[in-house]
Amino acid sequence: MHKVKTACSVEPQGELHGSYSSDSRKLNSYISISCPARIQMVVLFLAFAGLTGILHAQISKSIGQADRLAPTPPMGWSTWNHFHHDISDALVRAQADALVSSGMREAGYAYVNIDGGWEGERDSAGVLHPISSFPDMKALGDYIHSKGLKFGLYSGPGPKTCAGAEASYGHEDQDAKMFASWGVDYLKYDLCSFREIMVQQSGANAKGTAQAGTELGFSEIMEQEPDEVVKKSDAIMRAAYKKMHEALLRTGRPIVFSMCQYGYAKVWEWGLQVGGNLWRTSGDINDNYARVMAIGLGEAGLAAYAGPGHWNDPDILEVGNGKMTPDESRSNFSLWAILAAPLLAGNDLAHMTPETKSILTNKEVIAVNQDTLGKEGDRAYEVGPLEVWSRPLAGGDVAVALFNGIRSPTEMTLKLSAIGWHGSAVARDLWAHKDVGAINGEYTVMVPAHGVVMLRLSHHAK
Ligand code: GAL
Repeated sequence: MHKVKTACSVEPQGELHGSYSSDSRKLNSYISISCPARIQMVVLFLAFAGLTGILHAQISKSIGQADRLAPTPPMGWSTWNHFHHDISDALVRAQADALVSSGMREAGYAYVNIDGGWEGERDSAGVLHPISSFPDMKALGDYIHSKGLKFGLYSGPGPKTCAGAEASYGHEDQDAKMFASWGVDYLKYDLCSFREIMVQQSGANAKGTAQAGTELGFSEIMEQEPDEVVKKSDAIMRAAYKKMHEALLRTGRPIVFSMCQYGYAKVWEWGLQVGGNLWRTSGDINDNYARVMAIGLGEAGLAAYAGPGHWNDPDILEVGNGKMTPDESRSNFSLWAILAAPLLAGNDLAHMTPETKSILTNKEVIAVNQDTLGKEGDRAYEVGPLEVWSRPLAGGDVAVALFNGIRSPTEMTLKLSAIGWHGSAVARDLWAHKDVGAINGEYTVMVPAHGVVMLRLSHHAK
């Protein structure tokens, strides 16, 4: 064996701590190299490549998987907003069929998500069985996959779901394995009764434990607790999500992990660390314009926490559920696009109006939602109930939405300088599907009552 003679030595100068930064200055200060200049360059390059590799391995452990699972916000459909607990195998198959025949699959909708209501009893071996209207989950998963779609399911870290059915507490590995064997591609994990465990295990005032499983009861208890109890309870919650994330990893099946804990403890700050691909930022949405907008606009300032593989989730869409006007529905859809939010339709796909279908399949708005840069948009400015939001897109374009929160049509003005745009812009109206032409400085437009005008700005005509 030849010994390769090297003309230089590479000495570590200290500890390299795990970090999300692959900043070359940090790497250079970590190693000291003494050797002739040309070899130095090569060694430096190799050392850089090697250490970058180590760092990358560390990073990809936590975010690489997330990136691959949900590089853009997940799109699909959920049973919850329209059907609640009134669900069955037949219903889910019919909705999967409609997802295809409506053109929604073609437009990018992939996940067919069964929310709460499928869970039955656990048997003596701890195996969780679905209720009788879901006779064979594996067969249902196969059916969904045969349509070129993906299969989503629901559970939670507590002993019970919010509806009092079985959840995964103490059965995380067992459930994860079973879900994987059914072909599940997406798991929504809903906090619900785990709040009782948080109260009990953090040493919070046990008097309130009876109501601890509800949002109000839990908040009332925690508001009276000292900081260290709240911190302990938060840590218990984080560990519960991490536990299921790790159980999902152990199945070897890629499964998108959707955290639902209503935004407690600023989940956007730590959701990625516990394996979340998306996390709800608020309590439940409902089919009401004011509620929809309050949740979506409430994400102002959270853009920095979203990116490829990890998204802020303002909840399932209410488009087509009947209580919002078409303009209000367009506001819901546009805001979710600007927010890089998961686009989960929540209506009855088998019986939707042509208008609902055209809103849900607006390719130009979907392109904003699915933009590969993966940057969430944010509020640029507001004048009372008139809100202007913008979102940077790959290639230098910017999406802008002007939301009119007033009950009558209102003129709104987009000021390019206020969204950080320099020079003139070429604009396209994404709901009218028309080129607007050049904008210099300002653009004034009539926005429908509770409606939106959504534009895509470019530097040059396309
Ligand atoms: C809620 C959750 C809803 C839905 C429901 C099912 O806690 O926020 O999105 O999943 O449970 O019971």
